[in-house]
Amino acid sequence: MKSLRELIEEAVTEALVAVVGPEGAEIDPLVRPTPDPQFGDYQSNVAMGLAKRLRRKPAEIAADLVAALHLDAVCEPPEIAGPGFINFRIRPAYLSEVLGRLQADPRVGVPLAEQPERTIVDFSSPNLAKEMHVGHLRSTIIGDAIARVLEFQGQDVLRLNHVGDWGTQFGMLIQHVRETQPDVLQHPERFRIDDLESFYREAKQRFDNDPAFADAARRAVVDLQSGEEVANRLWQTFCAESLRHAHEIYDRLDIRLIDRGESFYNPMLPEVVEEFLARGLAVEAEGAVCIFLEGFKNREGGPLPVIIRKSDGGYNYDTTDLAGIKHRVQVEQARRIIYVTDIRQRQHFDMVFAAARAIGWVPEGTKLEHVGFGMVLGPDRRPFKTREGGTIKLKELLDEAEARAAGVVEAQDERRRELSPEQKAEIARAVGLGAVKYFDLSHNLASDYVFDWETMLALDGNTAPYMLYAYARIRSIGRRAGVDLDALPSDVPLIIEHPSEVALAKELVQFPTVIQQVAVDLRPHLLTEYLYGLSRAFSTFYDRERGVRVIDAEPEGVRLSRLRLAEMTARVLKLGLGLLGINVVEQM
Ligand code: ARG
Repeated sequence: MKSLRELIEEAVTEALVAVVGPEGAEIDPLVRPTPDPQFGDYQSNVAMGLAKRLRRKPAEIAADLVAALHLDAVCEPPEIAGPGFINFRIRPAYLSEVLGRLQADPRVGVPLAEQPERTIVDFSSPNLAKEMHVGHLRSTIIGDAIARVLEFQGQDVLRLNHVGDWGTQFGMLIQHVRETQPDVLQHPERFRIDDLESFYREAKQRFDNDPAFADAARRAVVDLQSGEEVANRLWQTFCAESLRHAHEIYDRLDIRLIDRGESFYNPMLPEVVEEFLARGLAVEAEGAVCIFLEGFKNREGGPLPVIIRKSDGGYNYDTTDLAGIKHRVQVEQARRIIYVTDIRQRQHFDMVFAAARAIGWVPEGTKLEHVGFGMVLGPDRRPFKTREGGTIKLKELLDEAEARAAGVVEAQDERRRELSPEQKAEIARAVGLGAVKYFDLSHNLASDYVFDWETMLALDGNTAPYMLYAYARIRSIGRRAGVDLDALPSDVPLIIEHPSEVALAKELVQFPTVIQQVAVDLRPHLLTEYLYGLSRAFSTFYDRERGVRVIDAEPEGVRLSRLRLAEMTARVLKLGLGLLGINVVEQM
């Protein structure tokens, strides 16, 4: 379905062809939402730009365009304002017709992809051997929301957890086991680890302070790489254990991910280097193999290569990502690959993408995209840490979110005392996890944000508790009106007359457009903004003074129409929040 804006753009383009001739089709019709609702809903400024070219007054051009416009079904007769703006106001009857169609559609107008696009979303992807911490929050939440939106569109999505399961940190851990649990060398199957985090800390401590240990740890990396059995057994145990931890978090957040770590690509790395060398795209420099790409410079303005083999013969993060692209395009047949990481990795991805394109692995039309996000900061506006300066484990953060949410729910229920302990626990879970997700997603991707419990758990403002509350409140309207909102007759016409009805209807019809935009731009905050705007439009509609009567509206046709608007608002909120990975509750 076309958006309102697209409909108007097309009509203006047609009018341009009628007024200026065939080249009118090439002119941007410059249709934008109006800055002020007093001027209608959309505005075109195209006449101003044409004045010079046509040597006529903009107002005259605008008048000709208006005369040539065919938009009667969609808009009130367009008005010309100021020097030559054309203002468009959507007709309520049109809104009612579109809404009726959307309401009858379980997908609320979001088209199902005719040809699903094979899409990989590479997200979360923590480095293993430590538990997940707050630094992994954003990639996990944002990547999941993006995957959900694309899945809803019907794309063929592969959610990959590109975990860092290879590298020097494992040498350190293996060496630490060898020294502290020597019997494991004979019986590697006996190796158990109960506290990954403290084990990692001890090993790291020794690695940093004891040169002999550090040397031995480096040799352990070589053992691991050359396939030595015990080293490999230990490595596997470490990976399995940290993935187990990670999946506890994913399950709790209701996130699915397929683990396919860096080590998966190990067998492909030598070939990557050979191919780049053979094609003359990489050169040996000081023992290392480097790809020099046009346009990438270091801080001093010198060339900045992608190093794909280090001078010690080892491969690195870049080599693995190149092998990953090749595999994802050629074997997985991906047509769109999305990487969700910290924005500081932007240059890494720009370079790796450019290298992969230069060697011809990426067919025309296949998209490689990096979604870069800002940092989570503490109240001191520095990277978020515990009071003692330690890393904040995700598990603890989520525990705290649920505990704090339980406090909020308890305080709400204090007055009414109508919820059972089980209900309160379920609500606290939805609110706590929802608050963390929503707060993260509602920020502009690239900005850093301060992690602030008070704000994210506030019942007012652009927060999860507010949104969940808005949803639950609408559902309660059905209960109070004594109707089943999900079974309202669908053949009663929607009456869109009162300004608050018009405003709500305009929000509702935008849902498919917003989803489409998120799928293209990969910016989930467009969806939080939209949902917030929608719930505010609903508040006004339902407000005693500014809105209309709903539960007790008369006559029955009007009451049913308004209840249908309520039902649809609830449905869009639930669907939209669901696409952000947030579960609603029926009561709050
Ligand atoms: N493990 C990396 C990190 O923690 C993120 C990996 C992202 N994905 C990728 N294909 N490079 O920074």
